[in-house]
Amino acid sequence: MVSQKGIFNNIYKNLVTPILKQDTGIDAEYLTNLSLTLLTFSSNNKNWPLIAKIIKNLNQEFCVVDERLHQKICGIDFSNPLGLAAGFDKNGNAANIWKDFGFGFAELGTVTKFAQSGNPKPRLFRLAKEEAALNRMGFNNNGAENLVKNFLKQGIDFKKNRKNNCLGINFGKSKITSLSKAQEDYLTSLKLLIPYCDYAAINVSSPNTEGLRKLQDPALLKELLREVKNLDDCPPLFVKIAPDLSYEEIEDICKIIIDEKIDGIIATNTSLDRLGLEQRKIKQTGLLLSEENGGLSGRPLQIKANQIIRHIHNLDNKIKLIGVGGIDSPESAWERICSGASLIQIYTGWIYKGPQLVPNILNGIIKQLNNHQLSNIRQAIGSNLKWID
Ligand SMILES: Cc1cc2nc3c(=O)[nH]c(=O)nc-3n(C[C@H](O)[C@H](O)[C@H](O)COP(=O)(O)O)c2cc1C
Repeated sequence: MVSQKGIFNNIYKNLVTPILKQDTGIDAEYLTNLSLTLLTFSSNNKNWPLIAKIIKNLNQEFCVVDERLHQKICGIDFSNPLGLAAGFDKNGNAANIWKDFGFGFAELGTVTKFAQSGNPKPRLFRLAKEEAALNRMGFNNNGAENLVKNFLKQGIDFKKNRKNNCLGINFGKSKITSLSKAQEDYLTSLKLLIPYCDYAAINVSSPNTEGLRKLQDPALLKELLREVKNLDDCPPLFVKIAPDLSYEEIEDICKIIIDEKIDGIIATNTSLDRLGLEQRKIKQTGLLLSEENGGLSGRPLQIKANQIIRHIHNLDNKIKLIGVGGIDSPESAWERICSGASLIQIYTGWIYKGPQLVPNILNGIIKQLNNHQLSNIRQAIGSNLKWID
């Protein structure tokens, strides 16, 4: 019999995991949208007795409460260091519910000024054996105004009134906006959403919007960040970078981050590099990964994303780092923190491993704090401490 405690994990393992063992079968984007529909309904109706009961059970199964995991970063209280990465809840439909899956924060978006449908389907592919994904979604989202409406629908108020529900918003450029008008595009979305976000992530690294990564060029990035920083009530700012930058380019970005007093960097987005999987065929299209457009995420990204975090931390340990890319276990989460990430995020690993990954990672971190006799996670950041079994 399934124990009450692990009921959601068991449902996931029995219904969803078998689908994820194959590249083909149920379409990856369809599956994401199906789960988001359920989560949206729950988030909009949190007070219905049945939904309230389900959420209470979710909370019991996935939340790990421990003061040693708490950090105040840029004035924001993070009850734990593990967040949901951008791209899963692009429209903030389930903004009310991520904390009940145990996340210390969730990054919503990418949101753009204009609603847009994204690239033609199919545009999200499972690479089951490698526990990876290729996506070329192209910022499909309902636009910044709609995100405000979704917040209000869920009773999510201005950030000063929110308890224990830390929400970052990730901002991108609309497809129809030319690069020369990009600034205005970001600023319009930010002005609408600043009251709601604990931090803003400036996304200049998605590989699926033509020209977007050019905004990583020092002159353009500096100008963009300066304008954003000048906005009234500007929240803490993070810049999300690509894993395909050279160390030289990363160092240029770090200099801008310091000069412009930006709070930190989110490293990394998906990769255009095929990371050893060039000859891997996408079954749905018959093309090799080297011939396909899109960004690679999941386990193959783990080493590179970790190296980038370590490199930036060694360069300047005052830059706050959010580490993302290929984290799929307590060990890889611990490694990212010890390489220099104050916070970490998961996406692809969370899909393959299921929601149980959140408490597994958090309990793993607590165990390592015990093993290394540390009293708070802050002491582990950038410590290079190894995992002790
Ligand atoms: C289907 C999909 C959609 C994504 N959409 C976005 C997005 O809209 N904005 C963004 O900044 N990152 C997006 N990402 C990138 C993730 O936030 C993350 O940086 C990347 O996937 C690496 O983490 P992972 O290996 O844990 O998935 C997306 C990733 C996937 C798989």
